[in-house]
This record gives sequence, C-alpha cells and structure tokens, in this order.
Amino acid sequence: MPRAINRRLFLGRTAGVGVGALFARAVGLEARSNPGGIGRVPILVTSHSNQTGQRAAEQAWELLSAGGSALDAVELAANVIEVDPEDTSVGYGGLPNENGVVQLDASVMDGATYNAGAVASLEGIKNPSSVARLVMERTDHVLMVGPGALALAKSFGFEEEDLMTERSRARWLEWRENRSESDDWGPPDHLRDRAEARIGGEPAFHYGTVNVLAVDASGDVAGITTTSGLSWKIDGRVGDSPIIGAGLYVDNDVGAAGATGRGEDVIKSCASYFMVERMRAGRTPQQACEDALEMIRRRYERLNLDFMPGEKFVALNRDGDYGCAWSYESRGLPQMTARDSGGLTVYEGVQFGA
Ligand code: GLY
Repeated sequence: MPRAINRRLFLGRTAGVGVGALFARAVGLEARSNPGGIGRVPILVTSHSNQTGQRAAEQAWELLSAGGSALDAVELAANVIEVDPEDTSVGYGGLPNENGVVQLDASVMDGATYNAGAVASLEGIKNPSSVARLVMERTDHVLMVGPGALALAKSFGFEEEDLMTERSRARWLEWRENRSESDDWGPPDHLRDRAEARIGGEPAFHYGTVNVLAVDASGDVAGITTTSGLSWKIDGRVGDSPIIGAGLYVDNDVGAAGATGRGEDVIKSCASYFMVERMRAGRTPQQACEDALEMIRRRYERLNLDFMPGEKFVALNRDGDYGCAWSYESRGLPQMTARDSGGLTVYEGVQFGA
C-alpha cells in the first residue's frame, strides 16, 4: 500500500511554512513555500499518481534497489506507462492529432554524461522513450523526428504498430464532430481562454504527459519525459517533451525537472532548465516548481493578461527531495508518486496561486 500524503497530513507536515505557498502568487519568487517531499537516495519519482504510475515506480524500484542505474530505471518505468492502453496521454492509446494519427514525443537525459536524446512526431512505436535513448546512445545527434525517427527505431528491431485503441479512436471521432470550436487554428493559447473548455463533460484539450526522474545509489541522476502530446494537435506539432531544457532537464550536480501540460509555454520559458537552475541556487524542488509557474505567470501579467499557466511541474534534487505544482483551479492538488527505501508515496504538491 502506498503511503498517501493527503491534504491534511500534508498541511500538518508543512505547518508554519505552508501559508507562504498560498501567497506565492502575490509575493513572487521570494515567497516561502512548503519544503516538499523528503526522500532518500536511491529514489524514483513520476508525475503519474494513478495505478499504472505506482506500478511503474514499483517495477523500477526493483532495479534501482538492486544497484541498477537511474537511466535504466527511468526507461523501465516510462515503458510500463507507455504501453498502458488506458492512458490516453502517452504511448499506446495516446490521443491522436487532428487527422487521427498518434504522434509521440519523448526525451531522455543522463546526468552522469550530460548526454541527451529525443524523438518528435514519432508514429507507430509504443515506446518512444526507448527510441530517444537510442538517439542518445547510438547516434551523434540529440533530436530525430518523424519518418527518420521511425526508420531508426525499426533498424533496431522496434515493431511498427497501430497505436490507436478503441477508446482513443472514440474520443477522436467525438472531437472531430465538435471541432469547429476547439481546433488549434487561431491565436496562441494565452490569448484565448480554452484551458477549461469542455466537450461532453470532458476537457476539450488534453496536454497529459509523464515525467520519470531518478537518482541511483551512485548519485547519478536521469530523467525521461514522454507523451502523445496535445490532443487533436495540428499534424506535425511538437510540444515541449522532446525539447531538452523545456520538457526535461537533468544535471548530476543538482537534480532533475520535468514538465507536463501546456507545452508551448514550457518551450518559450525553458522551464525545466529554469527549475534545475533554481535548485542550484538553493531552492527546494517544491519551490523550484512554484518558481517556474510564477515566472510564466509574470510574463503574461506584463502584457496585462489575466492568464494562469497550464502546466504541472515536477522536480527532484540529488538528495532525494522532490515536489510538484500546478495552477489548475478545478482539479485539486497536483500529485506525484515517489518510491524509495521507505516505500511508495503518493505526494500532493501545491496548487499555485490558490
Ligand atoms: N506537454 C505535452 C505537450 O504539450 O505536448
């Protein structure tokens, strides 16, 4: 059974500093927030808190606790989540683009070597994070896209498959019938209010993604971000997940950070790199996540726009402490899963700006 840090326990743990988080929006970067999750190395965290996320963390823990590398552990956990047909945010069963084609983005970064690899708009392969690792380890490149990335995967024996499930196809067909009010054509996201738009009770757009970050027993840090990207996206649109520094960044001296949610803002703000640099400057992982949301919010405030960022950020430092934050008003507190020698923890982070 996972250790669940519910809101009550969470507030109890953070009494005396938690109030600072409530005013983070008003007072900005210097606001004190809660200290976040306290873990021990080796440790693996994922932005997913559902059963698949927990199962992925448990399986990766077997490897990590036996002395396995952070890199192997994050790949194993990401693979478990990517092949889950029920998860419409990533890999097999991920929601398709506007033409009904699933196009996957993923990145991996190895803090021990500062090496990175990524794929974008990859079709037909269930485990894009493993193809990203091939780009990192078996080519002299960082990012490969579309047919080239697919050819690379197939040359290493990956099987090309139909990634649509009955569920994702039904969701896409429903969207297509309602598309006139909810496609991607038009001004950028921050100039219109569509984050909470709904079709048939479901959010009209999904930005779901998964981050997996780990520190191994040797102190090496690694991370993966993998996604099917924005649902119903324009053919060829690439989000933040395969962009090193945006959807993922890892630094062995500091820790790792990843993003889910509205990829366009994450790319424009290099948010994961920003979070790692905030941790380098002494901020806790929890604070670094809130700092990134505040940084994005301020950009639009300067344009006189009443806009709250649509991302969820997750961070882990090399000591094993972690945190997460988002600003969604209607979804309660953001959650993440952590696995270390103390067991499995479903941690609740901070709803920024609440
Ligand atoms: N963060 C996932 C995407 O925007 O594609």
